[in-house]
Amino acid sequence: MRDSFVSAIMTAKKWMMKSPNLERRTMNQMHKQGLEGVSRRTFMAVVAGAAAANSVSAQQTAAAGAITLPELPYAQDALAPVISAQTIGFHYGKHHQGYVTTLNKLLPGTPFVGKTLEEVVRGTAGKAEYAVLFNNAAQIWNHTFYWHSLAPAGQGGQLSAGLSAAIDKSFGSLEKCKEALADAALKQFGSGWAWLVAEKGQLKVVKTPNAETPLTQDGVKPLLTVDVWEHAYYLDWQNRRADYAKAVLEKLVNWKFASENFAKA
Ligand SMILES: [Fe+2]
Repeated sequence: MRDSFVSAIMTAKKWMMKSPNLERRTMNQMHKQGLEGVSRRTFMAVVAGAAAANSVSAQQTAAAGAITLPELPYAQDALAPVISAQTIGFHYGKHHQGYVTTLNKLLPGTPFVGKTLEEVVRGTAGKAEYAVLFNNAAQIWNHTFYWHSLAPAGQGGQLSAGLSAAIDKSFGSLEKCKEALADAALKQFGSGWAWLVAEKGQLKVVKTPNAETPLTQDGVKPLLTVDVWEHAYYLDWQNRRADYAKAVLEKLVNWKFASENFAKA
């Protein structure tokens, strides 16, 4: 079913580029591919997901009310050898997908049906009765942000002049900033995240445990993140979290993405 769903997404994206009659033509194409078993609800989620393919946040709210798994912004082997295709396969295909699947099972009957992913994360944060809902929603958001925080080696773009100046002001240099991120990645006890954030004109490095995210903190704008859950690195680096973090920060940071986030801070 998962393969059929991915195939349907690709089909929907291809056809929506060609025709204003997307639904009819996509349904016909899906029929030809033997996807008759795909329900209308699933089909509408596919179409909605395809239509929102260029927006991280919009990708995560389908017209049918379901939260969808956003596409990776690169091929699964594009981050190798720092992060292998095998790691991405499990991390994105199993863990990230798992949070999406679980959240969609949890949402019905709650006040968060039809809300955007960000609204679910913010609305459930710090509320014990919604802890499981928050954990899954925040992990979806965090992982999407993580994938976009990375880029294939040599394709991460340049720091904007504004972010470069802010990094120099807050850390002294880009190298010091990366050292602070590596230190946070190493010192986060157990599972969690290392973040570069902007707050009140200052840049900071912070770490969060489990699914916690700076997204829920007033006045704090996440700029980039490094996932330090063991599933992010264990297949490639085993227990060497520090080496994983250092390699990511040296080779895979998407500075263009961080700069765009800083411009919106
Ligand atoms: Fe992860």
